[in-house]
Amino acid sequence: MRSIKEEKNLGNKKILLRLDLNVPLDGDVITDTTRIDKILPTLEFLISQNAKIIILSHIGRPKGKIVDELSLEPVCKDLEIKLSQNIKLISKNAKELSSRDLFNSNDEKIVMLENIRFYPEEEKNNQQFAKHLASLADIYVNDAFSCSHRAHTSIHDITNFLPSFSGLQLDLEVNALKRITSEIKKPVTCIIGGSKVSTKINIIKNLIPKFDNIIIVGGMANNIIKYMGNNIGKSLQEESSDSIIKEIFSLSETESCKIIYPKDVIVGNNLNGTPQIKELNEISSDEMILDIGPKTISMISNIIDESNTILWNGPAGYFENPSFANGSIKIAKKIIENNKSNKIYSVAGGGDTVSLLNSLNSINNFDFVSTAGGAFLEYLEGKELPGIKALNSNVRT
Ligand code: 3PG
Repeated sequence: MRSIKEEKNLGNKKILLRLDLNVPLDGDVITDTTRIDKILPTLEFLISQNAKIIILSHIGRPKGKIVDELSLEPVCKDLEIKLSQNIKLISKNAKELSSRDLFNSNDEKIVMLENIRFYPEEEKNNQQFAKHLASLADIYVNDAFSCSHRAHTSIHDITNFLPSFSGLQLDLEVNALKRITSEIKKPVTCIIGGSKVSTKINIIKNLIPKFDNIIIVGGMANNIIKYMGNNIGKSLQEESSDSIIKEIFSLSETESCKIIYPKDVIVGNNLNGTPQIKELNEISSDEMILDIGPKTISMISNIIDESNTILWNGPAGYFENPSFANGSIKIAKKIIENNKSNKIYSVAGGGDTVSLLNSLNSINNFDFVSTAGGAFLEYLEGKELPGIKALNSNVRT
C-alpha cells in the first residue's frame, strides 16, 4: 500500500479522492462533522501540491436511487467554509460526465460528485462504472477507511484502472489499529451496539475467539432478547437471525467468551415516547426498546471494571433523543473514569459512537477513536478489508 503523502509531482494531476462523508444529518444540518474534520489534512495536502481534486463519497443508503434528502450539498457547503475554497457540486449524471466537463476554469480546483450510491453500479463493484470514473482522473486515493469493508466500485474495482494510493486518514487509522491489535492486553471486552444489525451480527461470531467478553446492546441486542423468548414489540430487528444467535452462544462456550446482553430495557411507544423501565418479559406489542435499563448499566460497569481493554462500537440506545441516551452516556462515563485512572486501554469506533462522544465533549478521553464502525469491527476480526486489499494488490505506477 502506497501513501499519497510519499508521492511527488502531484501538480495539476487529477485525483479521484474517495472519502467517507457519511455524516449524520437532521434535514440539511450536519449534527456531527467529525468525519469531515478528520479528512481536512488530506485535502490541505493535495491543495498544497496543486493537485486537482474530484471528491467521491456516499451518504446514507439510497440503494441506487436519487434521494434528495441524501444529497452531499450540506457537506459540500461545510467543506467550502472549512477550506475557504469553492467546491463545485456536480449533479450531472456521473455516467455521462467526461473529463472535459471538469476543471474548465483556473480557479476550479475541487469538485465533488453527487452521492455515489445514487448509482446502482456503485454497490455492485461494477467494472464499467469503475472504468468510467477512472477516465476522469490520473490517480486514485482511498481516504475512506470507514468504507473499506465494502467491495464497492469506488473503493475496490476502481483500483484496477488507476495508480492507487492510501490517504492520510486511512494511514493513520490502519497504523493505530495495527498497533492496538498487536499490543492488546487481556481481559478484553468488546461492546457492540447501534442499529446496523445486518452489518454486524455475522461479525460477532468471528470476534468470539479473540475476546473475553462481548457485550451486545442497542438494536443489536433486540434479536437476542427475542431469541430468549421475549416479546420485543415494535423494536428494530433483523429477520431470520435465530440460527446465527444459536451459533454465537454455542461458540462462546467452546471459546470461553462471555456473551452479555441486556437484563432490562427502557421502552417507548415511539422514538419520541415517554421512557419506561421494563423487565425483558414485560415488553408489550406497541412498545419499542430504545435503551438499556439500570440493572444492565450496573452489570456493564462491573465488566468494565474487570477489563484491561475496552473496544466500543455502537451506542446502547436511541441516544439522539436525550430520554433514551442514559445507557450510552453511562457506558461512556464509566470507560472515561477508568481510562483517566489508567485502569484500561480504550478504543471507540463508528459514526454514531463518535457523535455521542462529541456531544459529551469526551473524544479525547479515549486512547483512540476510529471514524469507522463496520470497518473497525471487520478489522478486529482479522480480515483484510476489500478496500485495503485492493490498495495492497494494485501497487503500480
Ligand atoms: C459507515 O458509516 O460505517 C460507513 O459510511 C459505511 O456505511 P454503510 O454501512 O452504509 O456501508
